[in-house]
Amino acid sequence: VKLDTEYEIPEAVRRGSVVGITSPVIDSTPSFARGHRKGQPSLSSVNEEGKSGSAIKSEIAAPAKAPAPVTTEAPAKPSAQLVTPWDVQGEISADGKALEINYDKLIETFGTRRITSELLERFERLTGHRAHRLLRRETFFSHRDLNNILDRFEQGKPFYLYTGRGPSSGSMHMGHQIPFSFTAWLQKVFDCPLVIQLTDDEKFLMKPNLKLDEVHKFAYENAKDIIACGFDLKKTFIFSDLDYVGGAFYRNILKIARAIPHNQSKGTFGFNDSDNIGKYHFVAVQAAPSFSNSFPQIFGEKHDIPCLIPCAIDQDPYFRLTRDVAHKLKYPKPCLLHCKFLPALQGAQTKMSASDPNSAIYMTDTPNQIKNKINRHGFSGGGDTEELHRQNGGNPDVDVAFQYLSFYEEDDELLAKTAADYRAGTLLTGQLKAMCIKKLQEEVKSFQERRSAVTEEILMAFMDPKRQIDPTPSVTAVA
Ligand code: TYM
Ligand code: TRP
Repeated sequence: VKLDTEYEIPEAVRRGSVVGITSPVIDSTPSFARGHRKGQPSLSSVNEEGKSGSAIKSEIAAPAKAPAPVTTEAPAKPSAQLVTPWDVQGEISADGKALEINYDKLIETFGTRRITSELLERFERLTGHRAHRLLRRETFFSHRDLNNILDRFEQGKPFYLYTGRGPSSGSMHMGHQIPFSFTAWLQKVFDCPLVIQLTDDEKFLMKPNLKLDEVHKFAYENAKDIIACGFDLKKTFIFSDLDYVGGAFYRNILKIARAIPHNQSKGTFGFNDSDNIGKYHFVAVQAAPSFSNSFPQIFGEKHDIPCLIPCAIDQDPYFRLTRDVAHKLKYPKPCLLHCKFLPALQGAQTKMSASDPNSAIYMTDTPNQIKNKINRHGFSGGGDTEELHRQNGGNPDVDVAFQYLSFYEEDDELLAKTAADYRAGTLLTGQLKAMCIKKLQEEVKSFQERRSAVTEEILMAFMDPKRQIDPTPSVTAVA
């Protein structure tokens, strides 16, 4: 059967045999997802874009020593790496060790493209801006159709940015901040409209312990965190699904829902027959902001203005389905920019996650909390003793303090020197951690200052669905 999809639905899913490997009914999300490891329905499927991505070579250095397993559960069974919107876990090797996330492999299995130096050069040439440090360091490492957006920028044609957040708690952690602060920078570079979806509905459907009033409240709290990242009020619309769904937006949700067969949602997300029907449907809601006529106050009835979606790679499954649907509805496909995860404090085998408080540094943490978390929980790539460290050096590639520094330190030379000194054994773990602590404390402090300046009035202005937003960019491509 030739399906009109960007990717193939795996045989097992089509035959329904995936159901057999799912976990029992009332499982929490993480273990539910783990139950799908072997099947890994959609994630092992490759589309054509993926197969043609030839020169994929690993740039992730081998760890100096095997990272410690993140959890204290019984010895893990070997399994492939798993990256879904709900669960991120590196491969478990034959001897039960959790490995780091392999991002090269994700490019292959998700069928995305690597961001090449040629693409970055084109970006810099057209925008006249030096690439953001997260682009220079390949934190944003993968994309879909970024060239289409650059073409439009070059031709002076409109496009917009779209990103989002699932408000599962009142405070965001440093990992969530990454796509948002990057998006704020992109908005400055392109001077284009931006829509930010708060999927309070998603969190209600996915987390049985949360009430509707709670997720709704979290959405408004998170919106303040998001505003503190520095968005342009004149060009930015932030909305809670619980409040905004209706009108033109709901019409798109329906068109999208009718174009997605049940088994495609099931296969893409690895749902089973006991998962509630809202989960199956939700992809239509996250897809809808990808289409410009969902926002009449910005684009009127225009349906043909494409968007660029910056997000971490875990959100890609939603947009693979969206791109598929776009084709059927004759809408432009959304373009994407994917980033790697800010690692958990315990190491790069998983992401910093709100569901494990020990893995995360929150934007509400005090300087002391930050210091203690890094010192106590930060996985070190250093030697076991100072003597061994001086003799053999450390490994910055698996060292969480170094990884965090590389997300936030602007100075490329200083970062390169830090890595070199650490490898040489002249920079000690304690010293590296101290550098990291100082950097994160500064980041969080300045964030907290900006956050406290976000008044109810500013919040309501960003979230006003009637406010008109001018879609025309005032910047043009550099000749
Ligand atoms: P959520 O709330 O899980 O995550 C919000 C954004 O943060 C990214 N992210 C991370 N980035 C770096 N390091 C990490 N450790 C880390 N953890 C999470 C996520 O990829 C995301 O970009 N369903 C979505 C909400 C949503 C959305 C969107 C996200 C709706 N529309 C469009 C991106 C783009 C969610 O629950 O995100
Ligand atoms: N890797 C550590 C370092 O570079 C070595 C170390 C472990 C250490 N425990 C220590 C050094 C206690 C001093 C004190 O510093």
